[in-house]
Amino acid sequence: MIGFKSAVSLGLAAAVGVLVGGGSAEIIYAGVNSAGGEFAQQNLPGAFGIDFQFINETAIDFFLASGVNTIRIPFLLERMCPLETGLGATFNETYFEFLQDAVTYITMKGGYAILDAHNYMRYNDPSMQPQSGSIIGNSSDPKAASTEDLAAFWGELSKRFMTNPNVIFGIMNEPHDMPTSLVLQNDQAMIDAIRQAGAQQMILVPGNGFTGAQRWLNVTCSQNCTPNAEVLTAITDPMNNFAFDMHLYFDNDTSGTHEECTLAAPSNLAPVTAWLRENNYTAMLTEFGAGVNPTCFETLNNTLTFMEQNPQFIGWTYWAAGPLWGDYFLSVEPDEGPQANSTWPEVLEPHITAYQPMQRCGVSSSRQGGLVDDVAKVLEGCLGLRLPG
Ligand SMILES: *[C@@H]1O[C@H](CO)[C@@H](O)[C@H](O)[C@H]1NC(C)=O
Ligand SMILES: *[C@@H]1O[C@H](CO)[C@@H](O)[C@H](O)[C@H]1NC(C)=O
Ligand SMILES: *[C@@H]1O[C@H](CO)[C@@H](O)[C@H](O)[C@H]1NC(C)=O
Ligand SMILES: *[C@@H]1O[C@H](CO)[C@@H](O)[C@H](O)[C@H]1NC(C)=O
Ligand SMILES: *[C@@H]1O[C@H](CO)[C@@H](O)[C@H](O)[C@H]1NC(C)=O
Ligand SMILES: *[C@@H]1O[C@H](CO)[C@@H](O)[C@H](O)[C@H]1NC(C)=O
Ligand SMILES: *[C@@H]1O[C@H](CO)[C@@H](O)[C@H](O)[C@H]1NC(C)=O
Ligand SMILES: *[C@@H]1O[C@H](CO)[C@@H](O)[C@H](O)[C@H]1NC(C)=O
Repeated sequence: MIGFKSAVSLGLAAAVGVLVGGGSAEIIYAGVNSAGGEFAQQNLPGAFGIDFQFINETAIDFFLASGVNTIRIPFLLERMCPLETGLGATFNETYFEFLQDAVTYITMKGGYAILDAHNYMRYNDPSMQPQSGSIIGNSSDPKAASTEDLAAFWGELSKRFMTNPNVIFGIMNEPHDMPTSLVLQNDQAMIDAIRQAGAQQMILVPGNGFTGAQRWLNVTCSQNCTPNAEVLTAITDPMNNFAFDMHLYFDNDTSGTHEECTLAAPSNLAPVTAWLRENNYTAMLTEFGAGVNPTCFETLNNTLTFMEQNPQFIGWTYWAAGPLWGDYFLSVEPDEGPQANSTWPEVLEPHITAYQPMQRCGVSSSRQGGLVDDVAKVLEGCLGLRLPG
């Protein structure tokens, strides 16, 4: 940690926009999702700017200027790996470049970019997500992609980003209704492939049951959906640089589709927080969102405060900004979203402001300090110097 101050005193900080250090002790990453790369999933491959789009650069500028340091970027596996060639290391380079452009834009300005494979642990038919498509690794389904295909995919994607320290690997959005043992098998294969490729950055590891934080200790379906808490303790990472990826919505079915907040949050985070503490794990809340009304605002605010008080939670990204939402009720997209002038300035932004200065331009890590242990590494992200080596 000493290195941070040296960097600042060298005068490099101002030149490259480095902001590091310990304003807030616990929240290392905070920001928003920029959804859109996965939109219109019934249209494959879809048209850029019409069916799908990752970011609006003006919006990213707004959020980074507000103090945000993390943007989660969903993408669709069937666009990255077209059905003709299947899930694996062969990409649609055009779609890849759209994603890469967004990642480069965010990270060269010192932000962290979470690559979010928005596929519910399914591949081959995203048209009716989250229900459609074959479960990856389901060996009784001849149409299903294999665990090895999924590992090959992440091996290739992580290799392409291994020199960008500000990237975070969100390996799979919301697995659900499948054996938790298969979630474990797929998660572990992706982690192993990323590390074998040589990528060192933080990996976000999802659980079953839509990776719901509120039911991490619970059975999430009738067929072998053993609690994540009982199964995912088997996860291993040679770099020990992972955090569990969790989601939380506050409406009556935790789907994030109703205006009313009726869930007993944040008390429903107590069981998973105890589990994280007991097992020395960290987590990031990469999706949460709530309507515009006093109950929801109080619930949101209390949830943020809860995470700030419990170091098991290293960060959060709100659901959601994004260039194609229009008037979607949870949208915080500047100038456009219904929450841009309400939830953003009234609830979220004050927390972001209180976190300043936030870590920027350092190697993504699941621990405060973590891999960011010397000046050279702190500066790598923004200066374009390269990991590994
Ligand atoms: C980005 O946002 C700005 C400001 O709201 C808007 O004027 C512009 O049309 C948007 N661009 C794209 C490509 O969505
Ligand atoms: C690759 O992606 C681009 C952009 O979405 C699309 O125009 C093109 O048809 C895609 N190619 C294949 C083989 O899917
Ligand atoms: C796996 O595939 C088989 C054959 O399509 C199907 O019957 C089964 O329901 C699938 N497993 C799960 C957990 O959906
Ligand atoms: C979830 O699991 C916890 C811990 O075992 C238990 O106390 C709680 O009652 C369960 N909740 C539900 C809704 O089953
Ligand atoms: C949740 O609330 C909505 C109204 O906002 C209602 O229509 C729905 O039936 C409720 N669902 C449950 C599971 O209570
Ligand atoms: C918890 O994990 C950190 C980082 O991996 C490690 O340094 C520390 O020793 C661990 N603590 C315990 C009690 O296992
Ligand atoms: C938010 O407020 C700004 C400035 O008052 C205004 O220009 C913008 O149209 C408003 N946006 C929405 C979605 O209401
Ligand atoms: C959020 O909670 C804090 C205290 O935990 C309080 O000071 C602040 O006013 C609350 N903000 C809102 C918008 O309710």
